[in-house]
Amino acid sequence: MANGKKIKQIIIKILKRNGLTSKHALICSNALLNAEFVGAHSHGLSRLKMYCDRIQRKVINPKPRIKIKKISQSIFLIDANNSIGFVAADVAIKQAIKSAKKTGIALVGVKNSGHYGLSGFYAEQAVKKNLTVLCFTNAPPAIAPHGAKKILFGTNPICFGTPTSSKVPFILDTSVSLINRGKIRVAAKTGNKIPKGVALDKDGYPTTNAKKALSGIQLPIAGFRGSGLAWMVDILSGVITGSNHGGKVKDPFDDFTGPQNVGHLFFVMKSNLFTKNYNKQIKENIRRIKTLPKLKGVKKILYPGENKYLRYKKNISKKIKVSKIIERDLKILLN
Ligand SMILES: NC(=O)c1ccc[n+]([C@@H]2O[C@H](COP(=O)([O-])OP(=O)(O)OC[C@H]3O[C@@H](n4cnc5c(N)ncnc54)[C@H](O)[C@@H]3O)[C@@H](O)[C@H]2O)c1
Repeated sequence: MANGKKIKQIIIKILKRNGLTSKHALICSNALLNAEFVGAHSHGLSRLKMYCDRIQRKVINPKPRIKIKKISQSIFLIDANNSIGFVAADVAIKQAIKSAKKTGIALVGVKNSGHYGLSGFYAEQAVKKNLTVLCFTNAPPAIAPHGAKKILFGTNPICFGTPTSSKVPFILDTSVSLINRGKIRVAAKTGNKIPKGVALDKDGYPTTNAKKALSGIQLPIAGFRGSGLAWMVDILSGVITGSNHGGKVKDPFDDFTGPQNVGHLFFVMKSNLFTKNYNKQIKENIRRIKTLPKLKGVKKILYPGENKYLRYKKNISKKIKVSKIIERDLKILLN
């Protein structure tokens, strides 16, 4: 157990030792700590060693020269120069926010990037500025396209955020797989089983063994519909931005043969573009849903993002639980 402030200093120290500037190390540490606080441990400290391994193997550039190409007042393409994904996404969302506040709408593509963690972390930054946002990123192969025997699509998250007129943002941030790959990785590391019905082994048989699931097939949400959504995200993030796609995004943990070249796409707009009373309308929209009669055993109808916000509030002042495996990783990285 350690407090957030101390963990933050440790992350920054490790990343600076790996060649990142103080500014970039701070951006990464904020994203990793946020993942811990919202309870997404599979996207927090458990990934730090992987990022450092990739820097050491020269497949992440610790000192990127990130280029922002202005296509119009509201359209930008960012070449991340193979930076760690957190830094590229930070530059991109800040550009999208700035431009959307000025013009009403912004579209920012990112190429030559890497794994950027939780989409919701970026969406929240836009929502805090009273903007509505969509974030997409592609990821390494995990899901087989509907009807195929071989994995190709990533767990490709879809994220939508919008202000609610309360301090709790609406953020739907979901993988298109039944379970996110990070959770399977953590289970494989700790020797735990994964839930039934979320993955197949490499021969196509259902498995609860995390290692077999990692070398096998993850199942998409809602069958062919989920496979279609994974494909959509691959096109938006990969094809449209000029990044890797079609199964070419490298697995950050297992494939050190080159940069991942992940693509991201951020779409940001003013929430009141078409109606002057957005705040009143969204409040009423949420009220109607929350006051519906509830199923037995349900205490409260939540909107997407509420659960993570509540976890964040609960955890922010608490100590962070550091597992033995992560403790070992941190010792190696600090040596
Ligand atoms: N960078 C990458 O390559 C990558 C790939 C996959 C996933 N991810 C990230 O992993 C994270 C976890 O994804 P996940 O699919 O496990 O998310 P999840 O299943 O934990 O949550 C999905 C969504 O459902 C909402 N939700 C949960 N319980 C709810 C309830 N009771 N009522 C209403 N809404 C509820 C959540 O707020 C969230 O918006 C995401 O932040 C995603 O961006 C990243």
